[in-house]
Amino acid sequence: MIICKNVQALVAYTPGEQPKDPGIIKLNTNENPYPPSPKVAEALQAFDAARLRLYPDPVFLALRQRIAEIHGCAVQQIFIGNGSDEILALCTRAFVENDGSVGYFEPSYSLYPVLADIRGVERRPVALGADFTWRMAADYEASLFLMTNPNAPTSMQHDKAAVAAFCRAFRGAVLIDEAYGDFADAGCMDLALAEGNANTLVMRTLSKSFSLAGLRFGYVIGPADLIGALYKIKDSYNMDMLAQVVGLAALSDLPYMRENVRKIRATRERLGAELRRRGWRVCESQTNFLFASPPDGRAEKVFDALKAAKIYVRYFPGPATGEYLRITVGTEAQADALLRHLV
Ligand SMILES: Cc1ncc(COP(=O)(O)O)c(C=O)c1O
Repeated sequence: MIICKNVQALVAYTPGEQPKDPGIIKLNTNENPYPPSPKVAEALQAFDAARLRLYPDPVFLALRQRIAEIHGCAVQQIFIGNGSDEILALCTRAFVENDGSVGYFEPSYSLYPVLADIRGVERRPVALGADFTWRMAADYEASLFLMTNPNAPTSMQHDKAAVAAFCRAFRGAVLIDEAYGDFADAGCMDLALAEGNANTLVMRTLSKSFSLAGLRFGYVIGPADLIGALYKIKDSYNMDMLAQVVGLAALSDLPYMRENVRKIRATRERLGAELRRRGWRVCESQTNFLFASPPDGRAEKVFDALKAAKIYVRYFPGPATGEYLRITVGTEAQADALLRHLV
């Protein structure tokens, strides 16, 4: 057989549906309902297509300088990927030996076990505690721990002291995936920059808070030696020229991103409060989505009814998540439409 055994056996990651019908209210993939900064459109319009003749900067220095300014770190501590998914895959290659393992919480981002399977290494999942709270055995070990924080799909933020203590004690690499970090009250970037934390990386994406899921742009910050390892194994030109131009424009307009985050957080609070008033269990969200369970716990039934009404949300079957829906926070009008259909 030509195809590798682990690829034959692989159950691939299933991304959320991308329906073509523009009439659908799309609350299923945690995209931002607002357009990206006007500076993005300006940069695209000003872009000279003749430049595409040339290869892009392989080490994206201008972007790293901007990110270094934002986070107060050195350019040697920054790596940029074609979406944060690319960075996750690179980490499983750079920090996990063939007989190593990949750890992650359950439930969390469902790509993590697939990445372990692609590498053909052991999965070491850790079940979260009751109500999806932090739970970690003192003797837990893995080569690489992938930690979504705030977590997805639960929307909850892990206790910072627990995360910090874990990073200090853990012998492998820790990647804190802050895909939703801009929607939280505070984050863990300082852990990637702390002198003593030689094993900790923190990752961000432009897909959610910057409204650029279509661009494919994620970045990771951490100790220079770990970051250097990612440069060694990346594709020569993993960030195309347009992504570099557009990414820089977006990162140069933080006030615009923050205003959208403010609106989404306000809608999140209103939607969460109204669902609770109607008897739903709603996790305390620090993200741009809610993880919520209807009063009778029959989430799949609500998922089907919403889908029939052209409102798409996400449902993850299984014992831990099967009573919940993951609902992306959209505009105020989308929240109203959702609430009307949930009557
Ligand atoms: C926790 C988490 N990490 C990473 C990603 C992927 O982000 P990107 O679009 O940057 O590849 C997602 C996307 O949904 C996510 O939920």
